[in-house]
Amino acid sequence: MFETIEMAPPDPILGLTEAFNKDTNGAKINLSVGVYKDANGQTPILESVKQARQRVLDTEKTKSYKPINGDPAYGAAVRAMLFGAGHEIVTSGRATTAHTPGGTGALRVAGDYLHSLHPKSAIWVSDPTWANHANIFEAAGLTIKKYPYFDAATNSLAWEKMIAALGQVPAGDAVLLHGCCHNPTGVDPLPAQWGQIADVLAKRGALPLVDFAYQGFADGIDEDAAGLHTLCKPGCELLICSSFSKNFGLYNERVGALTVVAGTPQAAEAVMSHMKRCIRCNYSNPPAHGAAVVTTILNDAALKAQWQGEVKQMRDRINAMRRVFVERLAAKGVKGDYSFINRQRGMFSFSGLNKDQVQALRDKHAIYIVGSGRINVAGMTEANIDALCEAIAGVV
Ligand code: LMR
Repeated sequence: MFETIEMAPPDPILGLTEAFNKDTNGAKINLSVGVYKDANGQTPILESVKQARQRVLDTEKTKSYKPINGDPAYGAAVRAMLFGAGHEIVTSGRATTAHTPGGTGALRVAGDYLHSLHPKSAIWVSDPTWANHANIFEAAGLTIKKYPYFDAATNSLAWEKMIAALGQVPAGDAVLLHGCCHNPTGVDPLPAQWGQIADVLAKRGALPLVDFAYQGFADGIDEDAAGLHTLCKPGCELLICSSFSKNFGLYNERVGALTVVAGTPQAAEAVMSHMKRCIRCNYSNPPAHGAAVVTTILNDAALKAQWQGEVKQMRDRINAMRRVFVERLAAKGVKGDYSFINRQRGMFSFSGLNKDQVQALRDKHAIYIVGSGRINVAGMTEANIDALCEAIAGVV
């Protein structure tokens, strides 16, 4: 059976790290996958995480299974982080949460749920979007449609086209929105635009599905939830997929969450009962450790404050590297105005480099970035920025 099987194409993001690891060029630079690195090029374990991890190790009493949708305490902590503890959605009990393995796990459970309970629903994703969105929803059996998002000519939101397309979404379809720090473009709607998006989707009867993988990397943990809050109208229905890979640095612990907001607590519970069926026949129940660390931090005022400070440090370093990147591109004589990179939010710079230029960076300079031209600013350091900018000058 296996003799005739040919190699599958490599993953457009994680496949690059596989290729990078095999590259023998001593000067190689990996700016592909969205992983934070500090000024020394290391991906640190946050101090708040180290302390919480120790508490978890000191107090945990069993390695028995977790509930299918994870610990209730974790779900409550996630909802407080998303909405604020006093929000009507929290106090009314019309939201419920499943702990999933990473944001990817949350997206897949959401996809499985939509496909099995709402088989006529398509999912609309921004053009462009995270390379794995289509894989996940196709694997779940959903029909995928695209709405315009990015105007390459102005390096900004293709607002008129976007809102016009959302105005045509059929009732019952799901619309994926990036909560903040749009991946790959770094371009987010403005507050007033969020308001219009919320109005249009509510009017159409479309279901917003918010992919929230970078909460804290634009303006702050609470500030970055502003777009989500705009969608939270009375009686609204929503799905929210959280990832804690980046903001807690818990990449390999696979910590994420799928939160359902329904019109009533009963409806939320009914939806969750089906999501639990989706989970049970996939990974059965979630891994415990990372979620215990997150719960410990979010429920302890001092640890939470420390963690928020560490998220700020990461955010500030990325923004500082954005400015250095733009300055050095100019200093190395790269043609064009790259100041738009300073306006992008989150980990990535959507550089405008085309496929040939991306390939040339890899072939000639062993610099790995994503085929869309997305560069991980969080991987730039004083040690690699000059080589990067010189290489870009050479390929542009
Ligand atoms: C990315 O976009 O690089 C990250 O979300 C990591 C991943 O899984 O692709």
